[in-house]
Amino acid sequence: MKIDILLGLQWGDEGKGKIVDALAPEYDIVARFQGGPNAGHTIEFNNTKHVLHLIPSGIFHEGKINVIGNGLVLDPVVFRHEVESLGIDISKVIERLLISVRAHLILPTHKLLDAAHETSLGDSKIGSTLRGIGPAYTDKAARNGMRVGDLFRKDFADLYKALVSEHLRMLKGYGHIQSLKELEEEWFDAAAYLKQFKTINADYFLDRSLKQGSRVLAEGAQGTMLDIDFGTYPYVTSSNTVAAGACTGLGVAPSRTGEVFGIFKAYCTRVGSGPFPTELNDEYGQMMRDLGNEYGATTGRPRRCGWLDLPALKYAIMVNGVTRLFMMKADVLSGFSEIKVCTSYTVNGTEVTELPYCLADIESLNYRTMPGWKGDIKVFQKWDELPAELRNYIEYIEKETGVPITIVSVGPDRSATIYR
Ligand code: GDP
Ligand code: IMO
Ligand code: MG
Repeated sequence: MKIDILLGLQWGDEGKGKIVDALAPEYDIVARFQGGPNAGHTIEFNNTKHVLHLIPSGIFHEGKINVIGNGLVLDPVVFRHEVESLGIDISKVIERLLISVRAHLILPTHKLLDAAHETSLGDSKIGSTLRGIGPAYTDKAARNGMRVGDLFRKDFADLYKALVSEHLRMLKGYGHIQSLKELEEEWFDAAAYLKQFKTINADYFLDRSLKQGSRVLAEGAQGTMLDIDFGTYPYVTSSNTVAAGACTGLGVAPSRTGEVFGIFKAYCTRVGSGPFPTELNDEYGQMMRDLGNEYGATTGRPRRCGWLDLPALKYAIMVNGVTRLFMMKADVLSGFSEIKVCTSYTVNGTEVTELPYCLADIESLNYRTMPGWKGDIKVFQKWDELPAELRNYIEYIEKETGVPITIVSVGPDRSATIYR
């Protein structure tokens, strides 16, 4: 069997959680491959709403195995809180949730370093989620990091002390001194809690599972425009959010990957700092925020909103090798008299359809305007029921990208999903 990959094509929050949950019945295993508690994946069913940060979005389906891959950075405190908020008996969660021994640990001092670094950047701050993501991945790349497997080592406390003393030295440099006592107590309790879960070599586990015919879905976090290599650097996250990240984040060879499902909203959003060419700082942007309830699932911050950016979408499709597109939040655009799509940029007086190295070089944007549609479309279950103007919008994007849009999402609930 091959492993399918599902990931975001914009700046995150495309609706990955909803779709992974909706597709989970078709898979045996759902495996998160990167990121950490910066992610907030929302799932709604039976009038309940859950937000997952570390746990893969297949967790609400009985009999499905969920894997936290080596590519993640895991905060035991967030993990514990999340498991306890699931509303599922812990013995069942333990059966369904496996953790890679190679996933890195977020320490309390990583969060303090994240805050200290952001403060030091002043107006140029990244607008990080302050979850310790950047510092934890920094330690991973610098070969100082601690991993889940280290929790079981006899010299764990020594490793911890050595790393924390290095962090304290750095925090002192930032002039950021704070007592660690309470934070450390909470963290060590949570680390002990984590040890009751099954830890695995996810690479061997997935190899065996694929050979035995299991269907595996890899779940990404963040989005392509936040990828550390291909996003709007330096305003990005610290991991590879693109399809290649599924291979390095799970230990699965490229030759064993199958479909790549790319998720995008019918418009764009971004939370945090950094360039966002189609951003609307007007009543249309506010309308998108209000109708789409565009407030961060992790931090509650208002999301910046704007029209769909086709050059950016095509770029994301290219670097990920997307085989199928899923369009989310089509219902949010209901009621707009006109829909705009950015088709190209003007850079140095020339029209371009490729992303420039520096998005700040974009002088102006060129838009195609299309007729909007009206009415509540959340109730629709079939493609033919959708307003002709929306179908026209979808078919235009398919024609432009050359990739079929096989799911159209028309509401946050699991059931508000149209399969084509
Ligand atoms: P993720 O990080 O990609 O999983 O996305 P988030 O959960 O952070 O943000 C997506 C938000 O949109 C959540 O509040 C979802 O409940 C909601 N959502 C998902 N799909 C739809 C949709 O088709 N329509 C509407 N109105 N909301 C949706
Ligand atoms: P999901 O998986 C949207 C953004 C932050 C910030 C930048 C760096 O829910 O789509 P970090 O804490 O990673 O160092 O922050 O990335 N960011 C996200 N934006 N959705 C996310 O995850 C995000 N995770 C990080 O706002 O701009
Ligand atoms: Mg999110």
